[in-house]
Amino acid sequence: MSTAAGDDDIATSTMFELFARYVGRDGGPLYQRICEGAARDAAVCALLEVAPLGQRRPNLLLASVHYLLLGGVDDPLAAYYPTVAEWRDEQHLGQAPDPQRIFSHFASFCRAHREELVVLLTSRATQTNEVGRCAAFLPAFAHLAAEHGQTLAICDLGTSAGLNLFFDRYAYDYGAAGHAGAADSAVQLHCEVRHGSLGDLAVPEVTWRAGIDRQPIRVADEEASLWLLACQWPDHLDRFRRTRGAIEIARSALPVVLVEGDLVDGVADLAAGAPPAAHLCITHSWVAAYLSAGRQTELAEQVTSIAAHRPLSWLYAEQPFEVPALPMPPAPGGEHVSAASALVLHELGPGRPLGPGRRLADLHAHGRWLHWWGAAAPT
Ligand SMILES: C[S@@+](CC[C@H](N)C(=O)[O-])C[C@H]1O[C@@H](n2cnc3c(N)ncnc32)[C@H](O)[C@@H]1O
Repeated sequence: MSTAAGDDDIATSTMFELFARYVGRDGGPLYQRICEGAARDAAVCALLEVAPLGQRRPNLLLASVHYLLLGGVDDPLAAYYPTVAEWRDEQHLGQAPDPQRIFSHFASFCRAHREELVVLLTSRATQTNEVGRCAAFLPAFAHLAAEHGQTLAICDLGTSAGLNLFFDRYAYDYGAAGHAGAADSAVQLHCEVRHGSLGDLAVPEVTWRAGIDRQPIRVADEEASLWLLACQWPDHLDRFRRTRGAIEIARSALPVVLVEGDLVDGVADLAAGAPPAAHLCITHSWVAAYLSAGRQTELAEQVTSIAAHRPLSWLYAEQPFEVPALPMPPAPGGEHVSAASALVLHELGPGRPLGPGRRLADLHAHGRWLHWWGAAAPT
């Protein structure tokens, strides 16, 4: 068993053990089995240890293997990955692979493709862009468009590939709580509404979209897009399909402003490009964890200074414990939904300073479910 220190001084084998438990809890049996095996395999641990310290996480090796398989490498391991069959448009006929043998196939794959894997492990970082989160953003945007009576200009910070900027092109199924969007969209989002009434779900008109990321993914770049897909779990076909659909939509849409840079330093310049006739919405989702408390404070100052010149809505979906320096109003009635992230809205503008904000919703990190607390009260 490897004892080399990995990210945050955790032994690589322990990281695999912890990741196995995490994916097991979140419905990823394939990676659970692989990581349980990897935790006991010195060669696989040593392979991950070629990655730079800050990137040395199981997900990086898993994504690198997935990337090679999606890219066409022919190997018995591919038969275990539903995403690969779908990507290659193949049906695995005959006997289903024996789940007990998946790790031995994985370890063989790592031996056979060590050279290509080392290149990926030393040059790549895992990346995500979760369009399922749009299920929480849509009712918020619908409310803001109605409230302000304007088209929207969206400025998304930590935007990744910018896929959430196209929320108006997706189909939304909230079960008994309603349907919205383009029913025939390549992105079909299903979200269970566990509390509250979403109100009017008219999809607003978006006249300007812009995003900033320190490592933006350009959807026109086939390799970068494939890497984004490879960072997903191979047995979460629904997520894979919707990301793939969202990439296609982004490719066929008009170009958006996608800037490479630091979001705190770049937000003012980015927002300055928003047309004055539209209502400016500054958004971010699952990004603040990357910012120190000091940088979160600076972000709030930047947004406040933009609002000194024009009204804007600041809307963020973040995990409350990750945002010590951003306002995080409690859920109504003190209700706390376990494992939830919070969607918070601030309405700012000249003469409207930053207050506690309004907690619009608590939601599952991938938008599987939503507790909608309501958007009507002033912020
Ligand atoms: C977990 S991903 C979330 C992506 C997207 N917002 C979503 O919800 O799917 C976090 C993103 O934030 C970006 N990021 C982190 N810190 C950043 C910074 N200081 N400036 C710009 N982008 C940053 C990362 O590159 C990554 O694309």
